[in-house]
Amino acid sequence: MCGIVGFVSEKEENAGKILFDGLRKLEYRGYDSAGIAVISGDSINLEKEIGTLDDFEAAVDVDELNGKIGISHTRWATHGGVTKLNAHPHVSQDGNIAIVHNGIIENYQELKNDLKGVKFISETDTEVIVALMQKEIDGGNDFFEAFKKVLNKIEGSYAILAINARQPGVMLAAKNESPLILGKALGKMFAASDSMPLLMHTSEVIYLEDGEIAKLMAKSFEVFDLKGNKIAKTISKIETHIESSEKGMYAHFMLKEIMEQPNSLKRSLQQPYGDVEEFAKAISQARGVMLIACGTALHAAIAGQYLLDRIAQKHVNVINASEFSYLQTSLQKNSLVIAISQSGETADVINALKKIKQKGAKVYSIVNVEGSSIARMSDKTIGIKAGPEIGVASTKAFTSQLSILYQIAFALIGKLEEGRKEMDKLSGLARLCLDMNLDKTKALAEKLANKRDIYFIGRGINYPIALEGALKTKEISYLHAEGMAAGELKHGTLALVEKGTPVIAINPNDFVHAETLSNAIETKARGAFVIAISDKNNPVYDELLSIPGASEEFYPILGIIPLQLLAYQLAVVRGKNPDKPRNLAKSVTVK
Ligand code: M6R
Repeated sequence: MCGIVGFVSEKEENAGKILFDGLRKLEYRGYDSAGIAVISGDSINLEKEIGTLDDFEAAVDVDELNGKIGISHTRWATHGGVTKLNAHPHVSQDGNIAIVHNGIIENYQELKNDLKGVKFISETDTEVIVALMQKEIDGGNDFFEAFKKVLNKIEGSYAILAINARQPGVMLAAKNESPLILGKALGKMFAASDSMPLLMHTSEVIYLEDGEIAKLMAKSFEVFDLKGNKIAKTISKIETHIESSEKGMYAHFMLKEIMEQPNSLKRSLQQPYGDVEEFAKAISQARGVMLIACGTALHAAIAGQYLLDRIAQKHVNVINASEFSYLQTSLQKNSLVIAISQSGETADVINALKKIKQKGAKVYSIVNVEGSSIARMSDKTIGIKAGPEIGVASTKAFTSQLSILYQIAFALIGKLEEGRKEMDKLSGLARLCLDMNLDKTKALAEKLANKRDIYFIGRGINYPIALEGALKTKEISYLHAEGMAAGELKHGTLALVEKGTPVIAINPNDFVHAETLSNAIETKARGAFVIAISDKNNPVYDELLSIPGASEEFYPILGIIPLQLLAYQLAVVRGKNPDKPRNLAKSVTVK
């Protein structure tokens, strides 16, 4: 994870401010420490702090950091604890080279053993890169040659930016398995982990691929392979409105993104018919279909399994991407794999897709971030159009992923147009659902704030909603939460239910309503405090988070909304920052 930003300009700039503002857009990628290195005159000016960017801003006057070139980093620790010494940028012993790195260098211990005489000051794998760079330069190589040689020695994942006080007009960049995008503006070149820091300066981007090295000068750039052969690259245009990545009137990005769902659901319907139909055609022609994803996107995939079955009588398998390599799958050339990912950068998904492609299977994807690695490695991709999702907890992306899966299911039965007409009502229903639950979830969160565990149960398509409700709750409120198929309760978990244990039943008025109600009654008989998510009340419920009545198949899109709000309110009531949960980052770009 970690976020990196760098730039090189033809004229002296307030480099500290440019880099810091860029890091702000990437803070979701890591927030345990941050740093900036700028070349001023003929030396590197380095500032690092532990903590969030707010802590950095309080300690460092970024307006004082002027220069034509600089790099910066916001960290999610992998190797070495959260200390100032472990924070990036890392600088060579001679003080001339600074680098930032996102990823993991797997052979750094061996490389370290070969660097006798170097006094390492951090516990990071990254410091090895900068030490190797100095060694190569001391051995007579120029900056680019040294960088290329080092890249050929290191193994693992990386997005690296390097600057050299002896050659201040050039920034070097390279990537393998970690994201890195270049941006071209007037008299300036940028590089960053995703497009958001670039959008403040340009809409012209260049996607760097694995094994590519970029040499960035203020007015030009060149890209090479690891042998030094020049590669021609195309410049792409991206369009995302910067204001959509601002918090606006909301206290947190998560709340803003939950509240945006009426609009993001509308946008999710603006897919060219042909794209959705092509997915449907590929599904119906494939020998076997597998949905692959992690976290929230995995829950969307499980819901997709149910809805494709119910609407289109089509069976698909679902696999957790991080487990993919441990299964001997029967994938063949005519199999279809559909990856679902908000960021399009999740390492577990990317690694699985690489293996899948080697087997010759077709790869389609449903992503939010345009031009992301997963989108680029797919034979066909659909963008969910949810807009930037900054909060670490995925919310609006989930409902938009579901929306795309519904549309594919309707296309499979030749009813895309009719389906979309029905789905058009979801935006208004989502708004109603938000209005019905914003205050109610706050009051409920106050009651639940000091509980130890919360259980979420649901049957059929409500089962992935139970999983998703539990994931939202645990990741941001740190309460232990477990989601399960309601029928599984009696196979073990019921033993944990005692007087006052909160049990949340996702139980809309659908065809499994009566069975889930029975399970809720079973927990109540053991003293549970039963909360229902439903459009139909029952005296057994201690609390009801109402959802508006809807066509039966669309309940999941509405059912998750009160659970997102409840998780948010729980985090706030418990004094946790929902946008920056401890130990987590938005894009999980490491294995
Ligand atoms: O970007 P992706 O959708 O591929 O991310 C997958 C998971 O890392 C992500 O959904 C994660 O579980 C979220 N923090 C959940 O809210």
